[in-house]
Amino acid sequence: MTERPDPIAAARHAPSEVLDLTAVREQYLSDGIHRAELADDPLDQFRTWYAQWAATGPYDPAAVTLATATPEGRPAARVVLIRRVDHGFCFFTDTTSHKGAELAANPQGALCFGWIPLSRQVRVVGAVHPLPAEEVDAYWEARPRESRISAAASAQSEPVADRAALLARRTEVADAVGSDDPVDRPAGWGGYRLVPDEVEVWQGRADRLHDRFLYTRAGGSWAIQRLMP
Ligand SMILES: Cc1cc2nc3c(=O)[nH]c(=O)nc-3n(C[C@H](O)[C@H](O)[C@H](O)COP(=O)(O)O)c2cc1C
Repeated sequence: MTERPDPIAAARHAPSEVLDLTAVREQYLSDGIHRAELADDPLDQFRTWYAQWAATGPYDPAAVTLATATPEGRPAARVVLIRRVDHGFCFFTDTTSHKGAELAANPQGALCFGWIPLSRQVRVVGAVHPLPAEEVDAYWEARPRESRISAAASAQSEPVADRAALLARRTEVADAVGSDDPVDRPAGWGGYRLVPDEVEVWQGRADRLHDRFLYTRAGGSWAIQRLMP
């Protein structure tokens, strides 16, 4: 058997272009999560935690990482903005994008809210459903006009030669709609609702002995299980 190098020693002697983050080490301190205080429904728990997160004044509290995967299992993750939390988590995007193609072929997704300043994480997994046209239209109309023009000019995730080419596309759309006319929603621009069947809430605690609770959908209600950190 060949001897394996000590990874920490290897990192210390690494060439300068290696970024060694071994010494970046935070303690996650909190009073933890108490089972008796958890809401029965994880979406209620999410709304309570979201209010506490938003109250800390983060730059864009609605941001979350969304993971999707091809039917073959190759994953991709990117940040999107959650725009509504009802019986699921709603976000808007170009349905002809890379994520849109993955969701058409494999309508499952995962969200990871990394609220590190609160030592909290919320993970969500579930089926992803396209939003009905009226919900998409309502959100489209609520967006600033300049954002609508940019969205109409962008075939999201498609290559473009350079920034000038992108600006030229935008100018073309802006000229075509005129200054006061409505900006029509492109047919491919839409939204999705991720309806969770699993939600995990995580609260960092001292010495990496964190609290984790997993909600699993069980018929019409939710089962709650503590997980080891
Ligand atoms: C803070 C932030 C918010 C974003 N919000 C959205 C969003 O709401 N919808 C969206 O389609 N892309 C959003 N993006 C861009 C996505 O991360 C991603 O680049 C884009 O959707 C293309 O992803 P895809 O090629 O995997 O489809 C956001 C990015 C960041 C960093």
